[in-house]
Amino acid sequence: MSAADHATLMDGVYRRQRHIYDLTRKYYLLGRDRLIDGLDTGPNATVLELGCGTGRNIVLAARRHPHARFFGLDISAEMLETARLSIEREGLERRVTLAHGDATGFDPSRLFDREEFDRIFISYALSMIPDWERAVSAALGALSPGGSLHIVDFGQQERLPRFFRAVLGGWLAKFHVEPRAALADLLRREAAASGRPFRFEPLYRGYAWLAVVGPRDASRP
Ligand SMILES: C[S@@+](CC[C@H](N)C(=O)[O-])C[C@H]1O[C@@H](n2cnc3c(N)ncnc32)[C@H](O)[C@@H]1O
Repeated sequence: MSAADHATLMDGVYRRQRHIYDLTRKYYLLGRDRLIDGLDTGPNATVLELGCGTGRNIVLAARRHPHARFFGLDISAEMLETARLSIEREGLERRVTLAHGDATGFDPSRLFDREEFDRIFISYALSMIPDWERAVSAALGALSPGGSLHIVDFGQQERLPRFFRAVLGGWLAKFHVEPRAALADLLRREAAASGRPFRFEPLYRGYAWLAVVGPRDASRP
């Protein structure tokens, strides 16, 4: 699917949903607050969310990490409109920059006027990005050597009853969501190749997966 077709699809999914998104998703996009708590930013840190949607995470993260600057990218202009309004409502315009773009191939210098970020996070977006492996590579490519990549998304429900898995899977497919079974393996490989540590934590019996690719080992060339 081309980026333009995917953008149209995402706008279609979220055109109406965006108005009830934050209210409804808080019950099932689990682990997002845990990810935000774990960003552990230093002074003047730069934090990018890929697939930022309504801006819900950026607003919470900006409150939780008052000395950081935030950047958000999304392929859906509809979602970005909601994000823009909520960032204005919170008075965060000076600390948050939003951009329309594709997480699988974006130019941070053009969109955000910077080459790299101290923290990049991706929350429940990889499961909606067909070429999600490329989004992971693009994220790692935009990460500073001392920076970390944080990901939360649906897991494989590996320790939940089979019927629950089947019902959830069918329901998610209606929203073009496909939990990425190979996520942990890919991140582990990418982390090893770039000399970074990798941490993986299944949450709620595998309902969600939380993963962190940490700072590069400074002793490596
Ligand atoms: C389920 S929402 C998650 C939003 C937010 N991260 C959260 O945790 O609430 C997925 C978001 O990913 C965006 N998205 C999907 N494919 C994308 C892509 N290729 N590049 C950037 N954003 C994308 C969608 O438009 C949508 O806003």
